[in-house]
Amino acid sequence: MTTKIFNVAIVGCGIGRSHMTQGYLNNEDRFRVVAVCDLDPVRLDAVADEFGIARRTTRFDDLLAMDDLDVIDICTPPAIHYGQIMASLAAGKHVICEKPLVGTLREIDAVMAAEKVAGKLLMPIFQYRYGNSVQKAKAIIDAGIAGRPYVGTAETYWQRLPEYYAVPWRGKWATELGGVLMTHAIHLHDMLSYLMSPPAAIFGRIATRVHDIEVEDCASATLELQSGALASLTATLGAREEISRLHLAFENVTFESSHGPYNPGEDPWRIVPRDAETAARIDALLDGWTPVPPRFAGQVRDFYDALTGEAPLPVTTADARAALELIAGFYHSHRTRQEVRFPIDTGHPTYEGWIPVPQPTSNA
Ligand SMILES: NC(=O)c1ccc[n+]([C@@H]2O[C@H](COP(=O)([O-])OP(=O)(O)OC[C@H]3O[C@@H](n4cnc5c(N)ncnc54)[C@H](O)[C@@H]3O)[C@@H](O)[C@H]2O)c1
Repeated sequence: MTTKIFNVAIVGCGIGRSHMTQGYLNNEDRFRVVAVCDLDPVRLDAVADEFGIARRTTRFDDLLAMDDLDVIDICTPPAIHYGQIMASLAAGKHVICEKPLVGTLREIDAVMAAEKVAGKLLMPIFQYRYGNSVQKAKAIIDAGIAGRPYVGTAETYWQRLPEYYAVPWRGKWATELGGVLMTHAIHLHDMLSYLMSPPAAIFGRIATRVHDIEVEDCASATLELQSGALASLTATLGAREEISRLHLAFENVTFESSHGPYNPGEDPWRIVPRDAETAARIDALLDGWTPVPPRFAGQVRDFYDALTGEAPLPVTTADARAALELIAGFYHSHRTRQEVRFPIDTGHPTYEGWIPVPQPTSNA
């Protein structure tokens, strides 16, 4: 039985509204959203009225001064995250933050240091890790039943229409920090790392072929993973049929995810064992399986267990760092036409950022 209920403020009423409907309303015995914040007063009032939240503000700093607030849930555009995370930790708040966590590897290292000083928890959002099938696959792999990983593919075939880019922060390096890799495929690429191990090296190519935007909307790469497995990534925002698909070949089991673009962790996955003995081991492991809530419902529930000390954080800043490292390496490989090996640390050309620097035009 849960007892302590944590008070939450949501900042940013776009995807922040989904954190409310999927995350907090499914965990009402664990969290209470007591405040909302958005620069846009119309959007703020609409969400606050819909969920009957009395405390509403257009000034983020007001949240920092609320003594009864335990958690600040940051759902603002990407380039805003770093400042709001650092201020929240300094004010003694626990933090949840949307992807991408921050805009450079230097910033994420500063966030990791601030987390330690504050002694508070920071959970980056990677809600695609939640859902029954992805968690069953994780359990089979972690139990050693799947055996050695061989190869994997991650396909993010999504569609965005021109109207999507009417929102001013989207499509621009300075405010979106990247394109399909940063904003969309980041989820499936995190799932691949989660199930098969993080990347050790990448050859990547990007292109802007679908929209009239600064950032990439198509990408493809070949990876060597830390486990020794090989993987390929493909992503576009120009697909006529939207799917997300992971296809993972291990020694004893092949997994193919469901194709729902925004919930590929949910049933049904194809889980194909090599023989009857492997099938029996999987059946025994999954006998009496407790369903895992999908997306934000599952991740927010597990955050509670971390706050109360019953379980480790389900997604960590290190996971968010790995996701950003992959993207930094992707861009650097494309620009240099070279393989990039991980980790990316101080001294690497992308450690301070990956936003292209405009070249001065020559009059000569
Ligand atoms: N996990 C997911 O599946 C998922 C889905 C969509 C978006 N996102 C991420 O969530 C973040 C927000 O995306 P969105 O689509 O909701 O964007 P959005 O533009 O629809 O909403 C962002 C809101 O933040 C508000 N805002 C901006 N600056 C602010 C500030 N300084 N203080 C308070 N409010 C401020 C804006 O007024 C706006 O209402 C992005 O980082 C995006 O990548 C994640």
